[in-house]
Amino acid sequence: MNEKILIVDDDDGVRQVLGESLQDAGHRVSSAESGEKAIATVREEAFDLVILDMVLPRVDGMAVLKDITTLRPELPVIMITGYASVETAIKAMKMGAVDYIVKPFRMEEVELVVGKALERSHLRRENVYLRRQLETTYGVHNIIGQSPLMRRIFALIEQVASSRSTVLITGPSGTGKELVARALHFNGDRRDRPFVSVNCGGIPDSLLEDELFGHVKGAFTDAVADRPGRFEAADTGTLFLDEIGNMSMSLQIKLLRVLQEREFMPLGGTRKVQVDVRIIAATNIDLKKMMEEGKFREDLYYRLNVIHMQLPSLRERCEDVPLLIHHFLNKYCREMNVPTKRFAPEALKALMEFSWPGNVRQLENVIERAVALSFSKEELGPEDLPREILDEGMVEMPVLHVGGDGFSLDEVLANYEQRMLYQALEHAGWVKTRAAELLKIKRTTLIEKMKRLGIPLKGTSERAAGAASSAEAEGSERVTDPGANN
Ligand SMILES: Nc1ncnc2c1ncn2[C@@H]1O[C@H](COP(=O)(O)OP(=O)(O)OP(=O)(O)O)[C@@H](O)[C@H]1O
Ligand SMILES: [Mg+2]
Repeated sequence: MNEKILIVDDDDGVRQVLGESLQDAGHRVSSAESGEKAIATVREEAFDLVILDMVLPRVDGMAVLKDITTLRPELPVIMITGYASVETAIKAMKMGAVDYIVKPFRMEEVELVVGKALERSHLRRENVYLRRQLETTYGVHNIIGQSPLMRRIFALIEQVASSRSTVLITGPSGTGKELVARALHFNGDRRDRPFVSVNCGGIPDSLLEDELFGHVKGAFTDAVADRPGRFEAADTGTLFLDEIGNMSMSLQIKLLRVLQEREFMPLGGTRKVQVDVRIIAATNIDLKKMMEEGKFREDLYYRLNVIHMQLPSLRERCEDVPLLIHHFLNKYCREMNVPTKRFAPEALKALMEFSWPGNVRQLENVIERAVALSFSKEELGPEDLPREILDEGMVEMPVLHVGGDGFSLDEVLANYEQRMLYQALEHAGWVKTRAAELLKIKRTTLIEKMKRLGIPLKGTSERAAGAASSAEAEGSERVTDPGANN
């Protein structure tokens, strides 16, 4: 939040458009119209991000990039480039730029790229801080855990970070697979090289193929220029294939071929491209079962599964819960600029006893929400926790007594139903299609039930973000369904 961004472009229009929208998005913005001025500014002031035009008068973008990365190795730089010079952008990424934006750009695209870069730099900064503070006692990077199961993961990370072997990370949703993938990259000797992440779930096959392997000009109607894929962008670095279990069989074959041959042909291309990429793949789907069902290729599985890291559910390592609570409390209080809060014993007890079907992500969401909703309160009580946490353990089988009043079957069943729904939703990361699958009901049925049982249609973290600014917006938020496309 509120990060400081430097925009370097000789075009007044670009500076203005970018500056205004980034300001509207809550960032602080400075700008420079030349390379010399940019370098002078970076020397004097601390920034969180630089957006740098490739073509500048006198000193060009590439030279400015070099100076900035020398001056401030931790400072992420995003390049702005024309359509025709994407090649140069790739070169810039190899020189240390974290990403690039192609002109003409759409603002949503810019915000996405900026958001990603900031998140990464945030992670990096936290890494540096945590490495000093925590590494010896609590683990690698900002992966928190002291349990034997997590210690094994940390040891494995250290052992294989610098190797080129493919790693397959498995584990339930929200257990930190992506975090581990990053830790592998940033602890290895490719740490100064690109870390490129591709989500293989949720985008159509043809788009994913294009995203991975790129295309050459004229490959299809909209292919107005060469566009290198993520494989090329990740050259000399790491490519993280997230949700690999969702990849179609036909793409699986293509991926296997690339892994075997270390080269591939962009769509419409005539020349093979060679790459040196370390592959890390992750999934929360049981790939063995998928293989049995004929939905995942066995040969690809063994190619990916050279090193296997299975992340434990939070329930399997519940001794880490207090540590995580402490970590996230600090994190969100710092982020929201409030003095560090604590939990009252009663609330802490509920947190410790909860089963955490959504694992660390759910725990993090719950803490973030509690911090966001409690305003100036220093001690957080049970009232700051979501219903599902307090309810667990309270629902017991009602017993009929002779001469007693009986009970409402509807109420008891609704209570159960609500808890089951919460569990499935948390487990599915609030992706309703997935939750419905888990419950073996239709997505529309799930949404009907959620409305009837008063379950908000969004997950806790998404709600917490909005709730802090306007409590009454909640009512209107309930009727929108942001998950309609997932
Ligand atoms: N051990 C941990 N220490 C600190 N934070 C963690 C830990 N594990 C997970 N998290 C946090 O929980 C959230 C979810 O983690 P991550 O995205 O890595 O999960 P995932 O396993 O990739 O989940 P999914 O399968 O749903 O994609 C992130 O915000 C991450 O920072
Ligand atoms: Mg993930």
